[in-house]
Amino acid sequence: MAVSAAALVLVLAISIVYSKTLTGSEKNLIEFLDEKPENGPRVREDVSWPGFPYLKQVSAVSVDGNGNLHVFHRGDRVWDAHTFDRTYRLKDTEQGPIPNDTVLVIDTSNGKILYSWGANKFYMPHGLTVDHFGNTWVTDVGLHQVFMFPSRESNPDLMIGDPFIPGAGKNHLCQPSDVAVLTSGHFFVSDGYCNSRVLMFSPGGKLLREIGARVGHPKMAWWTTGRSRST
Ligand SMILES: *[C@@H]1O[C@H](CO)[C@@H](O)[C@H](O)[C@H]1NC(C)=O
Repeated sequence: MAVSAAALVLVLAISIVYSKTLTGSEKNLIEFLDEKPENGPRVREDVSWPGFPYLKQVSAVSVDGNGNLHVFHRGDRVWDAHTFDRTYRLKDTEQGPIPNDTVLVIDTSNGKILYSWGANKFYMPHGLTVDHFGNTWVTDVGLHQVFMFPSRESNPDLMIGDPFIPGAGKNHLCQPSDVAVLTSGHFFVSDGYCNSRVLMFSPGGKLLREIGARVGHPKMAWWTTGRSRST
């Protein structure tokens, strides 16, 4: 009972946040789809798109305000049953960060890589969100950290969590999975595979609220990923 009540509160909180952050055109789209569900998004492979056959584990994609696609991938690393120990620590930190550029920025009209970055920084890439201001937010489940990089900068402006140290307190994260950013600059971190909570931060990175600790599994909550660019 307590769990379902808490889950209800979480859902309510999420819907409040969600309804406040919809833009007019998003509302129109949702009304349109409600009326005519058959017009909903359909997935079809564009076989003429060149693709990137050498990519292995791709953990996130996000589209920026110019329509370019940002891809976050793990180079030659894999996340499988042997990657973490029972306390969620990354087992093999000795091999160092991934030497490849882990973020590819792609022109969707022709599939060309416009630029790439993110070599020698990340251990186990996970979430990537380009926000309204063009900043790139990434999560690394191996580092247990969230980073915000201003456009075209390779040093983060903001960092949350302690490298390699999982935790459930105010200054630690545990396999954080994704970030969503409002136009106000407030942001939410879904944290994550082990903590199952959502943290809300001020634009400067001050923790304001913890939502839904240990309720459910907010790993891929639709509102987090779906709302991340345009809100
Ligand atoms: C990563 O870099 C190595 C060395 O250049 C290369 O052999 C490998 O194909 C790259 N992997 C990916 C997924 O880009």
